[in-house]
Amino acid sequence: MAARTSHPAVPGKTKVPTMRLVSPLFQALALTAFAATAHAAGDGDRALVEHGRYLVQTAGCNDCHTPGYAAAQGRVSEKDWLTGDHVGWSGPWGTTYATNLRLYMMQHSEDSWLRTARTFTPRPPMPWFNVHAMSDRDLVALYRYIRSIGPAGEPVPAFVPPDQTPTGPVVRFPG
Ligand code: HEC
Repeated sequence: MAARTSHPAVPGKTKVPTMRLVSPLFQALALTAFAATAHAAGDGDRALVEHGRYLVQTAGCNDCHTPGYAAAQGRVSEKDWLTGDHVGWSGPWGTTYATNLRLYMMQHSEDSWLRTARTFTPRPPMPWFNVHAMSDRDLVALYRYIRSIGPAGEPVPAFVPPDQTPTGPVVRFPG
């Protein structure tokens, strides 16, 4: 590395002030310590992102928030995950559309997502009670994973109240 080779060579016979010797050694140690910390943090972060991906796949988020996911038996390219669905869910509550979470998470800081995820009660069939029951680590993992794959797709259609008829395809609940 450039930093290492650019240290002035210590002349053999000259009496070198202690600091001249200590300083490069100290720098080397400090750099090693920093690199070790950064490495550990990087690993932790990667593990959290990976856990978020696991949750998206196993806790059902993809089933509704990724277009065509269930029909394709989960074989949807990850670049399209969580981009929201234009198939509506119609029932006594009106018609809802599973939110584009790739855009949604961009509107949240980690803190505001944590607060929201603990208290929100979106309309059916969103299983918000499952999200309320998640640990902080799970919620942070979801957030970090979704932010790591970045924004994509378009917003889904707006909620249609019960007294109005949705225009596109819907799954109809009894009631
Ligand atoms: C059965 C389908 C279904 C599943 C499973 C599902 N969602 Fe949803 N989700 C929806 C629908 C529909 C909406 C829109 C609700 C509305 O318009 O009020 C929604 C909305 C949301 C919102 C936006 C809430 C808001 O206040 O605007 C978030 C965040 C969300 N879902 C996260 C998740 C996460 C995380 C998972 C996985 C743990 C998940 N959802 C699983 C259907 C689902």
